[in-house]
Amino acid sequence: MSDDLQSKRRDAAMGRGAMSFYDEPLELVRGEGIWLFDAGGKKYMDIYNNVPVAGHCHPHIVDAMQRQASTLNTHSRYVNDTVLAYSERLMELHAEPLSSLIMSCSGSEALEVAVQMARTATGGQAILISNATYHGNTTEIRRMTFGPFEPDYKRVSFPQTYRPLAEGASENDLRALHLAEIEGAIAELEAEGIPLAGMVFCPIFANEGLPNVPNGFLSQAAALVRNAGGLVILDEVQAGFGRTGRWWGYETMDCVPDIVTMGKPMGAGIPLSGTGTSNAIASTFHEKCFYFNTTASTPLQAAVGSAVLDVIEEEGLVERSAKVGGFLLGELMPFMERYESVGDVRGRGLFIGIEWVSDREKRTPDREGASAFVEKMKEKGFLMGAAGHRNNVLKLRPPLVFEQADAELLLTALDETMREMHG
Ligand SMILES: Cc1ncc(COP(=O)(O)O)c(C=O)c1O
Repeated sequence: MSDDLQSKRRDAAMGRGAMSFYDEPLELVRGEGIWLFDAGGKKYMDIYNNVPVAGHCHPHIVDAMQRQASTLNTHSRYVNDTVLAYSERLMELHAEPLSSLIMSCSGSEALEVAVQMARTATGGQAILISNATYHGNTTEIRRMTFGPFEPDYKRVSFPQTYRPLAEGASENDLRALHLAEIEGAIAELEAEGIPLAGMVFCPIFANEGLPNVPNGFLSQAAALVRNAGGLVILDEVQAGFGRTGRWWGYETMDCVPDIVTMGKPMGAGIPLSGTGTSNAIASTFHEKCFYFNTTASTPLQAAVGSAVLDVIEEEGLVERSAKVGGFLLGELMPFMERYESVGDVRGRGLFIGIEWVSDREKRTPDREGASAFVEKMKEKGFLMGAAGHRNNVLKLRPPLVFEQADAELLLTALDETMREMHG
């Protein structure tokens, strides 16, 4: 079927405007490791997908899925050893006092649980968030992005050094300015009589554009929130499972949350997410909230989640993310001098952002330029995307089974495309 006919069919089947990437939408039919194949047989390197950390269709994960699906899959109101063993194993990978897990089916649901937990545990209502965030699409969680923010969501500027709150400020002064915003938001809430429940941040501010954050910001922000009676929720839906070269993004920021949310790579494509916390907070949540989720905490989810952990551990993917990501970042840094449109290069592990700007001095975001770059890379067989506050940050986020040789292939394509874009 022609591309045009398939697009019309999609509009009819899914509704016009259902999100789709690229000027010419891509019809994918198969995936293997870091590779994706379209309906015409063209092969693409996947530099975008953060769900298959173990690579597409990893045989160990597919096998675990198949075995559990053909043995037992029930809801969570029964006792099941596979579910218990997975919950224990996953939470052992976290820092103290995070020890109990509530499973759900999407990142958005994990955030819903986290917000309810913070509210039930503290008796508060208000949540501090960043001003360029995305944490999900349920009615409550989408308020963090699209509003209405009043009265109980308070936004603060996301921390960054590239477009600083005050031009020329030192890193310490910048950190102080961001912390002052948090103190100000807490004071406003107090004045408005809305008690604080907590703050929700992605530890690496992925959707904000993966900024370099003034050193020490997150742990000091956490202290301010705790002093005001709130809990610290860190959202690992993007940052978790080795993406940053550490198991958890919060390790790179030296800040252990009271509640952690996980999703995306957790189930390698099977709907699986989770909210981790201390046993005391989890128990209060169960006592006060009726929480049942028909297709969550199932043996199938647990078997697949456990197989994902097997692969990450057995194939050393956290270490590989640090090593190959470090190599990639080192090779990309000189692009800032070489190419006028590259305003900044930054990242951690296998998660790298390239700021595409139309004026380097003024750091003017160039969303159209970034989008044109993404299209050119697609033509060459490399799938990537753009993100960030202004959608101008080229995002490199391949499966963690990415090897040094893959990074070299990618660098050649990036360099070639940079040269083409700069005439
Ligand atoms: C940081 C973050 N949290 C939560 C979510 C929501 O996850 P889901 O799409 O699985 O509901 C997303 C999705 O992009 C995300 O980027």
